[in-house]
Amino acid sequence: MQWRRRHCCTHTAKLLYLLSLLGFLVFLVHRSGIPWWRGYPVVYGGTVPHLASNKWNASAAHRAWRFVIVPQTTFKADANISSSERNGVSFHRGNISIEGKLTADTSQSHGGVLNASLTHGPFPYIINKPQKCTENRLPPFLVLLISTEARQVEARNAIRQTWGNESVFPSVGFIRLFLLGKKEGELGLLQQRMVEAESRRHHDIIQQDFLDSYQNLTIKTLMGMNWVAMHCPEASYVMKTDSDMFVNTEYLIYKLLRPDQKPRKNYFTGNNMRGFAPNRNENSKWYMPPELYPGDKYPTFCSGTGYVFSGDLAGKIYRTSLRIRRLHLEDVYVGICLAELQIEPTPPPNGFLFNHWRVSYSSCKYSHLITSHGFHPNELLKYWHHLQSNKHNACINTFKDRAGRAHSRLRDKQLLKH
Ligand SMILES: *[C@@H]1O[C@H](CO)[C@@H](O)[C@H](O)[C@H]1NC(C)=O
Ligand SMILES: *[C@@H]1O[C@H](CO)[C@@H](O)[C@H](O)[C@H]1NC(C)=O
Ligand SMILES: *[C@@H]1O[C@H](CO)[C@@H](O)[C@H](O)[C@H]1NC(C)=O
Ligand SMILES: *[C@@H]1O[C@H](CO)[C@@H](O)[C@H](O)[C@H]1NC(C)=O
Ligand SMILES: *[C@@H]1O[C@H](CO)[C@@H](O)[C@H](O)[C@H]1NC(C)=O
Ligand SMILES: *[C@@H]1O[C@H](CO)[C@@H](O)[C@H](O)[C@H]1NC(C)=O
Repeated sequence: MQWRRRHCCTHTAKLLYLLSLLGFLVFLVHRSGIPWWRGYPVVYGGTVPHLASNKWNASAAHRAWRFVIVPQTTFKADANISSSERNGVSFHRGNISIEGKLTADTSQSHGGVLNASLTHGPFPYIINKPQKCTENRLPPFLVLLISTEARQVEARNAIRQTWGNESVFPSVGFIRLFLLGKKEGELGLLQQRMVEAESRRHHDIIQQDFLDSYQNLTIKTLMGMNWVAMHCPEASYVMKTDSDMFVNTEYLIYKLLRPDQKPRKNYFTGNNMRGFAPNRNENSKWYMPPELYPGDKYPTFCSGTGYVFSGDLAGKIYRTSLRIRRLHLEDVYVGICLAELQIEPTPPPNGFLFNHWRVSYSSCKYSHLITSHGFHPNELLKYWHHLQSNKHNACINTFKDRAGRAHSRLRDKQLLKH
């Protein structure tokens, strides 16, 4: 009797739980008007007053699905996408908005910049690993370009041990490179010596002689593209990401990119930001002065926290960048180069893969996503190891846990009543 009652309760709880999740999903899809898989608008546009998440964080169902649904009801930019763009025809309009508005960067014409053949670009390499790509017999399937600063040693070490470990997938070639600029001053000199030692040990750092600052992130990314174009043009795919990210490289390689298939060309994907307006609030990190970008909308770009592209694009984007004035917003800038190339980023197969916010951890969720943002190195190690040891039953446990929790809540209530 006792056993049967408990058993029955567990099932009822499971059923109720599933039904409520389903109901909640349907409700949100209808309520928000924009497809919920569109993702979470960051504050690139100036029009995002506060995020819907605050309203919802009290709900248990939302807590469970926070990673899935973050509707942004106040976000309007999507409403005004021209029909040609919606149909994916797009960027001839781009000529008007981009050509006219972004002049070639004459203010920074460092010698050979306008020379279309590939050189190291405007800044010479301080540390380079030109042989890294050719060490293995075959060109790598994936090159990871990880934007980082000299002081983030811990983060680099965590990445080497976790998602950036090159020996985890020996059958697909996969290499990682940390991208660095240079710091000034005494501290800069000290850091430089440490970076050089680290580079001798791990052979995974490239550095050019530009000041490492937030404003210069675009230069850093372009250095990575330049490296791939010059030293590894045969790589099938490239991912650019940051050092505070969790990247599920296994999912990325085997589920999204698929080494068993012919590598794509002109392919670019990530967290697609479509129809975003430049931020005109001078106090914002994402401020874009109208003189630099007068247009009222950015072309579609992918969040700089993690985007993936076919190897052929590294050179195309780099060469294109030589005739487009650099903007400090790295991801927007790459989007502009793509528009100039008339390449539209491909939406990822689902909207949960590339997250530029932090997804609350569970082995189930993390085995089905590619990026999650905002990790301390220790957390990265902890979650990575948890995920590795629960890989084969990542979701079974979660379900048991949740059902178990629902069950024990129900039991607590019953106990309270008596
Ligand atoms: C919801 O989020 C806000 C802001 O992040 C926080 O102040 C508040 O305590 C949260 N409420 C609950 C119930 O978690
Ligand atoms: C949409 O864009 C067009 C031209 O860019 C503009 O004239 C129109 O007012 C916009 N509509 C809305 C609703 O913002
Ligand atoms: C777009 O720009 C390219 C060169 O950048 C030019 O050849 C082409 O004619 C332009 N197209 C339109 C519609 O202006
Ligand atoms: C471009 O640079 C390469 C290598 O530095 C040089 O050989 C070539 O002559 C340059 N081309 C032009 C048009 O300046
Ligand atoms: C990378 O993975 C291999 C194989 O799983 C392991 O032996 C090695 O210790 C790892 N490297 C680091 C830096 O953790
Ligand atoms: C970017 O780097 C260049 C080259 O080191 C430097 O002259 C410039 O001041 C830097 N810009 C910013 C905004 O840090």
